[in-house]
Amino acid sequence: VDTPVYDFIEAYKASGMSRFHMPGHKGAGFSGCEDADITEIEGADVLYGACGIIARSQDNAARLFSAGQTFYSTEGSSLCIKAMLMAVLMDARQNKHGSYGGEYILAARNVHRAMVDACALIGIDADFIMPGRYINRCTNICSGMVTPQDIENYFLNLGKNGRKDYPVAVYITSPGYLGDIAATRDIAAVCEKYNVPLIVDNAHGAYLAFLGKNGTDGGSLHPIKLGAAMCCDSAHKTLPVLTGGAYLHISPRYKERYAAYVQRALALFGSTSPSYLILQSLDLCNRYIADGYNKKLEICINLASEVKEYLIHTGIDVLDTEPLKIVIDAAASGYTGHEAGQEMRRYKIACEYADMQYVVLMVSPCNSPADFENIKRWGQDTCLVKNKRERLVFPAIFTEKPCRCMPVRKAVFSPSEIIRAEDSAGRICASETVSCPPAVPVAICGEIIDENMVSLFRMYNIENVCVVSL
Ligand SMILES: Cc1ncc(COP(=O)(O)O)c(C=O)c1O
Repeated sequence: VDTPVYDFIEAYKASGMSRFHMPGHKGAGFSGCEDADITEIEGADVLYGACGIIARSQDNAARLFSAGQTFYSTEGSSLCIKAMLMAVLMDARQNKHGSYGGEYILAARNVHRAMVDACALIGIDADFIMPGRYINRCTNICSGMVTPQDIENYFLNLGKNGRKDYPVAVYITSPGYLGDIAATRDIAAVCEKYNVPLIVDNAHGAYLAFLGKNGTDGGSLHPIKLGAAMCCDSAHKTLPVLTGGAYLHISPRYKERYAAYVQRALALFGSTSPSYLILQSLDLCNRYIADGYNKKLEICINLASEVKEYLIHTGIDVLDTEPLKIVIDAAASGYTGHEAGQEMRRYKIACEYADMQYVVLMVSPCNSPADFENIKRWGQDTCLVKNKRERLVFPAIFTEKPCRCMPVRKAVFSPSEIIRAEDSAGRICASETVSCPPAVPVAICGEIIDENMVSLFRMYNIENVCVVSL
């Protein structure tokens, strides 16, 4: 696989040109990477109208991911999500798939805030599926994977859900922050049956395309392989790519339908100054993937499984998750995830995320054997085993389906005020209430804040919330 962006930048660095263009550092500066930090100069292509080196590099990525077309984002999956939603909306309007004005996205409730932000910006409404099994059971906002049956039930009961038309797309988040994975293939089959495209927030799952043995994609669990119309992958979350680097993939079947809209939408929401450091990093990652990433991934997954087995053997509760996450249920041993995360720091382990219940460690082939040894050293000594306590029990976060009384956009753009979270029950949420990570909203704009949400604000140390003015 060639690396046209990297090669161009290397040649430019060596050319000795006087830089009378942006950025202002002119190739030298404080952090040492400035010489590769160029802008869209002659020959460097244009990200949102790519036809040169960036287009070639994106084509390389599309081939590696078996996509019909791949777009780079230097602003994470957050930008890709906005572009995907706009593309399905524009397509629906163009082809009158939905009746204009009644368009909406059907989404699982465990969405990242970027999806809700996208609804506000684009002005598309959303229905959030709240499966019955979460009511009175679910204890964590990151949980909420929907099943194919949940989607089918929604379609079968459109009228009862207050809708006349099918949604312009179904939107799922998989893998979730706690490493759970949806039955994407079967969900895609339900969507196909009802002729509704499936969009997947695969921010945590770029690597899933490379699970196949010996460089084949036979074992791929990537959404594009499983029937999604489009998905976003945060390359930076699981691949060796600089923070901000992401892909928007369109499946071969949907390329004709969506590619032009996606390109327009990326330009609409993205910066006109994309980072070439990130583009170069995405470009180089293609070669990294092509040069035996499958094998490296396999070795890494084996190491991670071994560590998980080890922890389970010592008596630690480890969740059954996607292979590149190690998710520890600290509450099962009587400790909060925060406490376990703090204890890990003493063993030189910095976690991705900790909350009242869980600690999440994200693994990649770039972790060293010493990193895995540190986890084992922690596992040997941890108070979760040596001083195990009664399980911590948490109340269900939803005792009923959250009540929505306004579309997302209307709530976001209504006159609003900031009030104490403690006093917010009964008010309409007007701005994302998230702790980051995981950035899964406790209350979604347009929902009436209930007592359960107020308890969650407390749990996530959210002190103030923005609500629609009375
Ligand atoms: C599930 C999920 N979706 C989307 C995003 C946004 O991705 P990015 O940070 O690449 O913009 C995140 C970020 O953490 C995420 O966890």
